[in-house]
Amino acid sequence: MMQEQIKNINSLEELQALYTATFGKNGTMTAKLKEMKNLDNDARVALNLENQTLRELFKTRQMEIENAILMAGLQKQKLDVSLNPMPENRGTLHPLTQSLTEISSILESFGYTMHTGPQVEDDWHNFTALNTPLHHPARDMQDTFFLPNGNVLRTQTSAIQIRAMESSGVPIKMFGVGATYRKEWDATHGPMFGQIEGLYIGQGITMSDLIADVRAFLSKFFEIENVELRIRPSYFPFTDPSIEIDLKWKNDKWLEIMGAGMVHPNVLRNCGADPDVYQGFAFGFGWDRLAMLKYNLPDLRDLYNNDVRWLKSAGF
Ligand code: PHE
Repeated sequence: MMQEQIKNINSLEELQALYTATFGKNGTMTAKLKEMKNLDNDARVALNLENQTLRELFKTRQMEIENAILMAGLQKQKLDVSLNPMPENRGTLHPLTQSLTEISSILESFGYTMHTGPQVEDDWHNFTALNTPLHHPARDMQDTFFLPNGNVLRTQTSAIQIRAMESSGVPIKMFGVGATYRKEWDATHGPMFGQIEGLYIGQGITMSDLIADVRAFLSKFFEIENVELRIRPSYFPFTDPSIEIDLKWKNDKWLEIMGAGMVHPNVLRNCGADPDVYQGFAFGFGWDRLAMLKYNLPDLRDLYNNDVRWLKSAGF
């Protein structure tokens, strides 16, 4: 029986050969079908049925053989689950972004709101309004990058406090954030660095409010119960009195952390505020310096090189 024969075939080649011998040009079934017209009705029906059944049997057997070949192949090439998978390369936030996020959320929790400003700044906002007029010797404190048109690359985020007071008026409690530029280059100074500037102008605000906010801020940021601070007299044209604030670090060394002071009456006047009614303080610091300390980084410039190997080795 042809049907038994088909079922016993185990190779595609043999099956193909039998198929050709049956349905090919000179095939047995082909010959029978050619004689169809000479058959009576019942015989025709029977032949059609046989034709159909055989074709289906071939198809089914072909699938069975193909399946068997596939399974045999899979048995041979077993999956090696001990192979290492592709390394997982999930990104993380840059340490500067991480520290900025922390700093901002602390200052915001104290009621300061964030402001920004242009990095190419005009003379008024970077110097003159900050009580540092042309030819003022304090302009020498900062190695400024001047542009041919007289504008500068912002040397301090203090420029942002001027813009904030100009646009929002006083009272105001804000902090300015941004890149600042000075011609400096060593392990703790780069030509571009991140600065943050706090400003709180209102009525009856004093130096002790300043120190209280700075102490609370630094304690939170460095997760130290109550930071030890040292206040030294200093000079900035836009604050009077001016101070510098040092922080006692873990190795008992004093680290210079920020400049600060009571906002100079001329600065308030330049921004349209009456210094007889309003007073307040400002403080400014390098946020990358703070990040360096917090994450224990030896070279500030690493923060700006964007070397992923360094970021990984530093644990970011
Ligand atoms: N702008 C000063 C600097 O860049 C820091 C400062 C800010 C000092 C605010 C006093 C008040 O060094």
